[in-house]
Amino acid sequence: MTYEQTPVSQHDNEHSSTLALPGEAEKGNLSAIPGLAHLASPPQSGAGGGGAAGQRERQNAADLTSLFTAHRTASGFSSKPVEAGTIRRLYDLARLGPTSGNCAPARFAFITSASARQRMLEALSPGNRDKVAQAPLMVVVGQDPLFFDHLPKLNPQQPLRDWFASDVGLSEETAFRNSTLQGAYMLMAARALGLATLPLSGFDAPLVEDMFLREQGWQANFLIAMGWPSEDTSSGPGPRLPRLLFEEACLCL
Ligand SMILES: Cc1cc2nc3c(=O)[nH]c(=O)nc-3n(C[C@H](O)[C@H](O)[C@H](O)COP(=O)(O)O)c2cc1C
Repeated sequence: MTYEQTPVSQHDNEHSSTLALPGEAEKGNLSAIPGLAHLASPPQSGAGGGGAAGQRERQNAADLTSLFTAHRTASGFSSKPVEAGTIRRLYDLARLGPTSGNCAPARFAFITSASARQRMLEALSPGNRDKVAQAPLMVVVGQDPLFFDHLPKLNPQQPLRDWFASDVGLSEETAFRNSTLQGAYMLMAARALGLATLPLSGFDAPLVEDMFLREQGWQANFLIAMGWPSEDTSSGPGPRLPRLLFEEACLCL
């Protein structure tokens, strides 16, 4: 019997009945994907009723719905702007995510003005331009190759600065690994705030660095187009692509 064939009750806690609100997960097309149908189940346990436990369970289900089960990569955006307060909140949430040695190498450029967004469109691969032309916000997730200069402030207990400063290979690997993670924290923070998001790796990184990051010497890792969800529900994102089964992607040793 494979993992996806086992009854929900036999899965570990995080896969059990509290993963989605009724009807919400279907929006993410989970029922049709082998191995993911159990995530589309509505809450079933006794705690789903009243009281603090029930409230907590409903909140957990709502969190999982907006972060994972119902959320889809955006195929359109509302033209409503993403206000400066929301942008600051995005960073305030993302910066709480963990990084190795608290090195926090990610740097973010929030592209909101019409002229900067127009220049950004020119740096995208042609197949990506139409998808993000309406996005009111483009975020460049980048990294500071000299991130270690901030370590005396970020981690005063450990003398890590010179360790990274004297090893280019180590500092490059550390900057890339952790800025990618921090970009993912920002993606999930945006989802939690109700924003539609489209991460993008199809772009000309040297051009983006030249246009937007040259003064700071930061490097571009990937982009995230963001905006409030489109009011136009006539064209959705299409069926969700399959994911690897537990047996294909995981080892239990
Ligand atoms: C790092 C990264 C880069 C991506 N680059 C592109 C891209 O250049 N163009 C595009 O259309 N989608 C891009 N995507 C979107 C993925 O194809 C999409 O998130 C994935 O198929 C899952 O879709 P779902 O969230 O609707 O299930 C990218 C996603 C990630 C995480």
